[in-house]
Amino acid sequence: MVMWREMLLLVIFLVFVVQQICATHEQEHSMDCPTSSCGKITNISRPFRLKRDPIHCGDSKYELDCENNVTVLYLFSGKYHVQAINYNNFTIRVVDPGVEEPSCSSLPRYFLSESNFSDGYFIDVVAPYLSYQYQSHQSGPEWNSLWKHIIYLNCSHPVSEKNKYVNTAPCVKWQSKGYMYATAADYLTAAELKVGCGVKLVSLTSWWGLDANESSYTDMNRALLYGFEMSWLHFACDHQCRKSSDDECSFNTSTLKLQCAPLCQDKFGILLVRCGTGIWSQLLAYPQCKDCVS
Ligand SMILES: *[C@@H]1O[C@H](CO)[C@@H](O)[C@H](O)[C@H]1NC(C)=O
Ligand SMILES: *[C@@H]1O[C@H](CO)[C@@H](O)[C@H](O)[C@H]1NC(C)=O
Ligand SMILES: *[C@@H]1O[C@H](CO)[C@@H](O)[C@H](O)[C@H]1NC(C)=O
Ligand SMILES: *[C@@H]1O[C@H](CO)[C@@H](O)[C@H](O)[C@H]1NC(C)=O
Ligand SMILES: *[C@@H]1O[C@H](CO)[C@@H](O)[C@H](O)[C@H]1NC(C)=O
Ligand SMILES: *[C@@H]1O[C@H](CO)[C@@H](O)[C@H](O)[C@H]1NC(C)=O
Ligand SMILES: *[C@@H]1O[C@H](CO)[C@@H](O)[C@H](O)[C@H]1NC(C)=O
Repeated sequence: MVMWREMLLLVIFLVFVVQQICATHEQEHSMDCPTSSCGKITNISRPFRLKRDPIHCGDSKYELDCENNVTVLYLFSGKYHVQAINYNNFTIRVVDPGVEEPSCSSLPRYFLSESNFSDGYFIDVVAPYLSYQYQSHQSGPEWNSLWKHIIYLNCSHPVSEKNKYVNTAPCVKWQSKGYMYATAADYLTAAELKVGCGVKLVSLTSWWGLDANESSYTDMNRALLYGFEMSWLHFACDHQCRKSSDDECSFNTSTLKLQCAPLCQDKFGILLVRCGTGIWSQLLAYPQCKDCVS
């Protein structure tokens, strides 16, 4: 009697196990994960994934979350709102949630600059997001910065260069004493700082309309609202260039496609360099942050 019951349990157990194995097998074979959607970002696909997507979809380094119908990206100690994922040029554009209020009095919530992304000298190729994109132009490949810094300064005296240092006064109400300015700069360099001024806050923008000399503070606020782009090109490169370690991968700005070019040994046989060039010309092509403040 007891035997029968145990046999039955065993059979039920085995059927369950076989079903489980088949189910996971099926999941693994359905490599084409459906694209995910959250709020206005309707096309979330590889390498990106949403937190609650099936485990085999996307890459965990590129995980996004969906909070109250907004796609969010956790970046360092901050939480940014995703504005666009560009699969055409391998960038993602995010905005600091602090500037999203519809008034120019809103300020970025986080202090974020180039130095959060790298040590300021060489590019960290294992990080999921880079501040530069390796692009091939007519003149040859180079690292192109994807953003400008918006630097908020508090100064003990008024600053006269009104084109460069824009008064935030009509918009922003600061707690501290002194004269508050905002300026747009490529790097956070000592040269950008005036004597008697301190850096209050730094944020980023990829809105190139600020290139003009006569930006108002409203322009800067609009630029922050546009957000900043980061590159995930190196992820795409690892999957597209076959022998990724022996290939140089860049974004061809004419064809708007990834381009894999073979690398050759330099004349001392130590390093891999672009074929037909010397090692020094290539090292010099790396972006460097001179006189960095922090
Ligand atoms: C989520 O956002 C999308 C796009 O902005 C909108 O169409 C949809 O109605 C929103 N859903 C909810 C539940 O708020
Ligand atoms: C979504 O992204 C994939 C690439 O991952 C692309 O092939 C497809 O055309 C995109 N769809 C839309 C609606 O943008
Ligand atoms: C960026 O680095 C600065 C200085 O180390 C730090 O105070 C700030 O919190 C970092 N930003 C984010 C978003 O983690
Ligand atoms: C990437 O593509 C988006 C959408 O087409 C565009 O707005 C953005 O400027 C491009 N970024 C770069 C670095 O080419
Ligand atoms: C971009 O690609 C085109 C077509 O493959 C090629 O002719 C051109 O030389 C490439 N541009 C650069 C700067 O490498
Ligand atoms: C800038 O603000 C800080 C903190 O509020 C204050 O300690 C400092 O004295 C200010 N600097 C100037 C130059 O006003
Ligand atoms: C900005 O102003 C400087 C001097 O005030 C001038 O040399 C430069 O050409 C101007 N740049 C633009 C883009 O107008």
